[in-house]
Amino acid sequence: MTNLNFTELPTAWQGFLQACNSCQNCDLYRERNRVVVYRGSLEAPLMIIGEGPGRQEDIEGLPFVGRSGRLLDDALLAQGFSEKDFHICNIVKCRPPNNRAPLPEEAQACRRLLNAQFALVKPQVVLLAGATAYKYFTGGQDAISKVRGQWIKAGPYHIMPTFHPAYILRNMSKRSELWDDLAAVRKKLEELGFMDPRPEN
Ligand code: URA
Repeated sequence: MTNLNFTELPTAWQGFLQACNSCQNCDLYRERNRVVVYRGSLEAPLMIIGEGPGRQEDIEGLPFVGRSGRLLDDALLAQGFSEKDFHICNIVKCRPPNNRAPLPEEAQACRRLLNAQFALVKPQVVLLAGATAYKYFTGGQDAISKVRGQWIKAGPYHIMPTFHPAYILRNMSKRSELWDDLAAVRKKLEELGFMDPRPEN
């Protein structure tokens, strides 16, 4: 969560948040309680993109604050990330009914806002959490189990697909893969000079 109040945000962010809060570009706005935009830092080298808000996120107005979020936070903490290092958001900003995956037209409708968010945050590295984020962000059709853990280079950006934390909660044997992928992300940010190497134990 950011410590900033709305009026303390840079003007461009205020405009962006207003655009998010008033968005009616797809039908998901009809049943939302809160538009879920981000948590973490406004200017982070790492952008983490999930699928869409769940029940708890819709109540709190923040991404990844339910069970999946706690697992994601554990994984981030294990790699020594703090809030200034990341910006967490989703493919869609409003909760899909019954936690279903966003429809292609919903992801498409929300893309303009995600692109604007990307331009404001200016991340160098993107972690795509789960098959839905991978599919809609890159247009790739491969199974997430095939592409996870491998860097995709797109212009100046380094993109890492990984398993969704909710999948890990259901398949704890895959936990080390998520941890490994976050370790690779940390290493990349160190190589790029955005984070200091971790002290040796
Ligand atoms: N799952 C997601 O993909 N995003 C959230 O914000 C919460 C759960």
